[in-house]
Amino acid sequence: MTTGTSLKESPMAFALTQEQRDIQEMVRELAQKEFAPKAAEVDRNHRFPRENFDLMASSDLCGLIFPEEYSGVGLDHVSYSIAVEEIAKACATTSVIYSAHVSLTASPVLQWGNEEQKKRMLAAMARGEKLGAFALSEPGNGSDSAAAHCRAELKGDHFIVNGVKNWITNGVEADYYLVMAQTDPNLKHRGLVALMIEKGSKGFTFGKLEDKLGIRGSSTCQIIFEDTPVPVENMLGKVGEGFKVAMSTLDGGRIGIASQAVGIAQGAWDHAFKYSKEREAFGKSINKFQAIQFMLAEMQTEIDAARLLTYNACIAQDRGGRFTKEAAMAKLYASEVAMRSTTKCVQIFGGYGYVTDYPVERYMRDAKITEIYEGTSEIQRLVIASNLLKGQ
Ligand code: CAA
Repeated sequence: MTTGTSLKESPMAFALTQEQRDIQEMVRELAQKEFAPKAAEVDRNHRFPRENFDLMASSDLCGLIFPEEYSGVGLDHVSYSIAVEEIAKACATTSVIYSAHVSLTASPVLQWGNEEQKKRMLAAMARGEKLGAFALSEPGNGSDSAAAHCRAELKGDHFIVNGVKNWITNGVEADYYLVMAQTDPNLKHRGLVALMIEKGSKGFTFGKLEDKLGIRGSSTCQIIFEDTPVPVENMLGKVGEGFKVAMSTLDGGRIGIASQAVGIAQGAWDHAFKYSKEREAFGKSINKFQAIQFMLAEMQTEIDAARLLTYNACIAQDRGGRFTKEAAMAKLYASEVAMRSTTKCVQIFGGYGYVTDYPVERYMRDAKITEIYEGTSEIQRLVIASNLLKGQ
């Protein structure tokens, strides 16, 4: 694939370390060779590409950001963002499978888990032996996470869980589900508990498998708990800390989605750039027309800006402390860039952009969800504003 000289390549721009460049090259090669050629088929058939997850596991990508003592590689979050971007450029479905596994399920075990939980659950996810999923939203509440109805009642050394969770990425395919449940509705967000629930637990079943506009291979479904016993040793943090577990997890998750959005935008741009050189109109390549040049220029400028904002959030995360505002800014901007850019890329392809002969229509469909999941663009604006007002 021919690409322009953008921030992602330029030696004089934001300087990636040699290690980060090596990761970029390795993941790009893997994703372009293994994931890109079947992305259209995965999309068409709504097929969960398990073999892609296995390849990410055998390439040590599942453990990229986790300490070596838990079977990880110990790299930084910029490296992780690079990996998600390269995967998303090839196959957005595969990138969200990866991001939901690493950011939304394994990372909170590192942040909130005890030593035994890290050795047991984090290490298995870092090796890619177990696949993770995150369960916060419900049929009746998405943005208002504190309004969870799913109940967890402590009885002896088990919580008994009852309720329904919606929009679960890695749905029927996962092994561990990080579930936020309410122990006392009077306490609102301070009553939530975060539980790692294993597939196969008694009373744990799957509901509707969603038929989605984009990221169609990622297995999104409803999960149902009916008197499901969950051992206390599978609780992350303490009773009442579930909301904080969820919100801090989403801070990291939003960086994953920002990276995915950058990858979708860059992937579509790369296709449009190549097509604009090859396609002729009025006797010359369409990239000789300013109308096309301006679109390419504007898009690449915005994509580079989105990537920088995403790296900034990664650096803030690696420094430690809260990075809520930086993550929300990256996710808000990158997702809107992805939607704008992929729409323009379809425009550059004209009629061919509207049919499945070329992949850009898929990129446009895949982009839309980045403005919705892990907090809508409206929620990101709220989060950014509230942090600015607090002086953070
Ligand atoms: N990290 C740690 N703690 C945090 C936090 C964070 N990022 N954000 C808030 N908190 C803490 C606050 O400090 C506060 O603590 P105290 O109780 O000790 O005071 C508490 O949480 C409540 O905070 P707020 O008053 O700010 O919370 P709120 O109720 O006003 O608003 C919200 C929160 C921003 C609306 C939040 O509910 C939110 O982000 N909603 C969107 C949820 C979301 O992103 N859902 C997507 C689901 S996941 C998904 O998409 C599935 C998938 O598989 C991809």
